[in-house]
Amino acid sequence: MQTTLQLESGTRIEIWAQGPGSLRIAIGDQIVWQVPAFANHPGFFKYQHRETCEVTVEWDRPEAILWAYSYLPGEVQHSGITVWEFDAEGITRRTGAQIDAWMHSDPNRPVMHFSPIRQWMNDPNGLCKVGDTWHMFYQFHPAGTDWGPMHWGHAISTDLFNWTHLPVFLHPEQNYWQLGATGGAFSGNAFEDRDGTRMFFYTERLPAYDLFSGYREIQKIARSGPGFEQVESLTTVIEARPDGVNHDFRDPKVWWDDNAGAYRMVLGAALDGDPAVLLYGSANLVDWDYLGPLYRAPDHFKRQGARAVECPDFFTLNGKWVLVMGFVGYTQPETGRHNLLYALVGDFVNDQFVAHSNTLQLLDFGTDFYAMQSFEAEGRQIAFAWLFNWEDRKPLGYPYSGEMSLPRELSLSEDGVLCMQPVAELEAAWPGHAIKGQGSMAVQDAPFDLQLAGPLDGTTVRASQAGLLCFEISVWNNILTITLPQDDGSIGYTADLAGAQDLRIFHDRGIIEVFAKGGAICGTRRNYQNIAPDMVDVTTEAAQTFLERTSL
Ligand code: FRU
Repeated sequence: MQTTLQLESGTRIEIWAQGPGSLRIAIGDQIVWQVPAFANHPGFFKYQHRETCEVTVEWDRPEAILWAYSYLPGEVQHSGITVWEFDAEGITRRTGAQIDAWMHSDPNRPVMHFSPIRQWMNDPNGLCKVGDTWHMFYQFHPAGTDWGPMHWGHAISTDLFNWTHLPVFLHPEQNYWQLGATGGAFSGNAFEDRDGTRMFFYTERLPAYDLFSGYREIQKIARSGPGFEQVESLTTVIEARPDGVNHDFRDPKVWWDDNAGAYRMVLGAALDGDPAVLLYGSANLVDWDYLGPLYRAPDHFKRQGARAVECPDFFTLNGKWVLVMGFVGYTQPETGRHNLLYALVGDFVNDQFVAHSNTLQLLDFGTDFYAMQSFEAEGRQIAFAWLFNWEDRKPLGYPYSGEMSLPRELSLSEDGVLCMQPVAELEAAWPGHAIKGQGSMAVQDAPFDLQLAGPLDGTTVRASQAGLLCFEISVWNNILTITLPQDDGSIGYTADLAGAQDLRIFHDRGIIEVFAKGGAICGTRRNYQNIAPDMVDVTTEAAQTFLERTSL
């Protein structure tokens, strides 16, 4: 198959491909770039075009090209990448609004929530705001719709809802597919130094042949140009693990600590099998000393399967310190819920974290809200999380896997509970239009936002599609429950409302995000069946505001 197209001088093309198959680019009858035979494992290939002219692109098996895009380095921050889709007829190139239109044409893709154009995405990484631009980086596997050797994807936005997709930002150290291994550029954070210099701290998992043990994880800094166009340098800063840490040792978050007059870093790990957060200190960001555990989970967690803390987040809010941790592998015996996200609120004095209470606050009773990362921007603490829990997966055959939560703003309630609410930017990006009525309401295939205020006991909200259950949210004896069609009752997605009188339910094509008690109680679930409700039946004594949300 071949096609001719115009390419501008300076265009870069980046391609992930797996054989059998080949690809070449020619100017006239002269080949200027080619891969005569892709290997039988994925590989990354790039080409830089040097002359504005017409080229012939020739390929034999479109399915060999797993992910491909082009861009002009000087323009990509404004226009984003141009996606190249190969098929038997030709190459379809899409950029900007064409990418959005293609994504929106997929009836199975949520519309308000961030998702990758194609392929696998997990944790949010490197979140930050620079000038007017919000940056979202994310764990990305460009060679498939399943988890694999990790890269950092990248997108930018000026409103937290509409995103421009940029080239892959970080690659694994080497071709792990070729080794038959996993690993790569794992999760990390953006750090802004006191002089405004920005860099990214992240983990590289070196070649891993087992998903649960026997790997090495090291911490690195990635520095890049002002717009984060391209990584300029990589420095390894921590290679050795402290005693008691066997393999899980990852997901750094760094800050300048005024009290210590030095830099501090937290890492997620396991200490002799107990999930733990480790504290490191540095005077120069490059040499780091282990200062000891910041938090070590009680024995219960190890006994119930917890393997490590993932993605620790540690930040100040209203003068208090908040520690957020994912306990991977843990199953809560009472409910059967697993891989849970917890918070503790306290003080951080002399490098010791003293929690106000030892009771961990469960951040999401629906559990499809994991690897949350928060960051400070103009005095607000904003967070995204990955809407996934390994319990249910997107059915096979979809072009991508993974969505982010709505951007949320964090706050502390008067009694010191961490609260989350959708950010105020939502109103401008997705204005709400009231749906009038009570009881049974017909809805369109659009996101909705149902707000209830008043007595909630006895409430049932049942969304259905052609009579089939999409989801049901109920409150009985103060217990809030989210039920999906596939639930068999073995896992309890419940929370105690303790008399709360506010409940807000968002729905966007199978994503259900519930906020109650001013955001102190949050429940997020990702449903893949009957995701386009046409009817919502509401039984409640509370006052209702039912908004359909449409993008501007
Ligand atoms: C959490 C996590 C992180 C790790 C990354 C790998 O979902 O396991 O601990 O850095 O994902 O993709």
